[in-house]
Amino acid sequence: MHTGFPTHGVPKHHRMQNIMSGTETCTRPSDSSAASEVSAAAREDLILVMDFGSQTAQLIARRVRDQNVFCQLVRHDLSVARIQELRPRGLILSGGPASVYEPGAPRIDPRILELGIPVLGICYGMQLTCQTLGGRILAAESREFGRSPCRHATDCRLFDGLPDSFVAWMSHGDQVDVLPADFATIAQTDTCPNAAVRHRTRPLYGLQFHPEVTHTEFGALLLRNFVRTICGCRGTWQIASLIEQQRQLIRERVGADRVICGLSGGVDSSVVAAMISGAVGDQLSCIFVDHGMLRKDERRHVEHQFRDHFHTDLHVVDASELFLRELAGVTDPQEKRRIIGRLFIDVFREEARSIPNARFLAQGTLYPDVIESGANPDGPAATIKTHHNVGGLPAELGFELIEPLRDLFKDEGRRMGIELGLPEAMVWRHPFPGPGLAVRCIGEVTRERIQVIREADAILIEELLAAGLYREIQQAFVVLLPVRSVGVMGDSRTYENVAAVRAIRTEDFMTADWFPFAPDVLQRVSSRIINSVRGINRVVYDISSKPPATIEWE
Ligand code: XMP
Repeated sequence: MHTGFPTHGVPKHHRMQNIMSGTETCTRPSDSSAASEVSAAAREDLILVMDFGSQTAQLIARRVRDQNVFCQLVRHDLSVARIQELRPRGLILSGGPASVYEPGAPRIDPRILELGIPVLGICYGMQLTCQTLGGRILAAESREFGRSPCRHATDCRLFDGLPDSFVAWMSHGDQVDVLPADFATIAQTDTCPNAAVRHRTRPLYGLQFHPEVTHTEFGALLLRNFVRTICGCRGTWQIASLIEQQRQLIRERVGADRVICGLSGGVDSSVVAAMISGAVGDQLSCIFVDHGMLRKDERRHVEHQFRDHFHTDLHVVDASELFLRELAGVTDPQEKRRIIGRLFIDVFREEARSIPNARFLAQGTLYPDVIESGANPDGPAATIKTHHNVGGLPAELGFELIEPLRDLFKDEGRRMGIELGLPEAMVWRHPFPGPGLAVRCIGEVTRERIQVIREADAILIEELLAAGLYREIQQAFVVLLPVRSVGVMGDSRTYENVAAVRAIRTEDFMTADWFPFAPDVLQRVSSRIINSVRGINRVVYDISSKPPATIEWE
């Protein structure tokens, strides 16, 4: 049984193209076969991660890809026939929350272990492998959670290059008590006698600990040993070669038609636009809706990059009046999201209509979105959707979707952006919610209040850049509170707003910790904001983790 992780989780649904929210009628990632073709060339060396519900299943896939080996997450009950069709070089069975001895616990078809394909079971995956082959699994005397010194004393190829003792990250309540026939123990901790096991003759391996979690020392090397040495993957999967393959496919698919791409200023849509622009040149039209709640200079940067640099047919729609009018007097967060979502779609649709022959819509759907939407029949079942579902645009727009990032994780999308020549500042820009500054303006949204946040936010970001902290922090912003407090400036009394600074560190935005700033940075941020942004006379720092708080305030 798996007992949960402090910092890792399933990446969130709303990493989808950062366009809109508040609407239930969003385009789901497509299950188009064209998208699968996109990755076909990359699949010569394929590793499949069978997902038993672990919070770290996606992380395993990412870590394998770090070894330049293509890896996909699939449902745990993928059939033997389908596995054979996909021809993976290796299988990794993930952890999971169940106990293998519980009725109804997820299982595998035992024939999978007889295909001759190397298998690495991690935590639940190891217990399941052992149980399937006749071993016995029991609840451990005490649950083991956290770092444990782990010793191995074998020449097993899995441990090539590792010292005899290393720190392993454990998170389990059950463990293998009796090994199946022909299995041997290859590592132990003080409380776990079978911390790693292997079959004596067949390529079957099991780890009770989690090599995918960075707290496990040499975890990356262990995974590398499995995929490169044991499975024989060559490690040729690269972002740069993907770009050319995808461009070719996009060209073939689009023919002489036109593609529309909604730009948000965020990294995903920018990468998609850059990719499509390189594939079909002037057959691409981009639409950028300025809803009046963007960060400072966001629109200018998009215009510069796409109009001046890529020479894209860029339609900038300034709809700020409309948005602000409809938001007047609205203070409820969900209502704000709904209004912005609805208006965004109307404005986008209207502009799209003015573009003749548009047949395709390019979206920045990422791999986690595909996984979580359940759109891929081989993929794991769809998981939770929460309050602010963010998708692309409504299906009724009637476009065929092009999703060149649907095989990629966010950081891989970023690497692709760099390869495509996007500026670092755009590629590494912190994420920004679709409803923009409206959800950071607690209470009523007015042009003046948005302007206050925008200025304060720009100061915060400037200071983070100056302190060399921008990339260490995954998201930072200013929230304007509907609270006024008394202050004194010069000889006069002030009665102005309070601004909250939020800065978080996170791996996946599902959980987050507040950033432990050195006092001098906070001091500079605070005094610059108070001195130069009219309307703010007090700055506070938000020291809430997620959970129980969320990253945004609304
Ligand atoms: P929360 O507030 O749920 O945010 O902890 C997690 C991440 O999601 C972003 N976020 C959104 N992104 N549209 C988006 O595209 C939205 O409506 C939305 N709401 C939150 C948030 O900025 C953080 O990165």
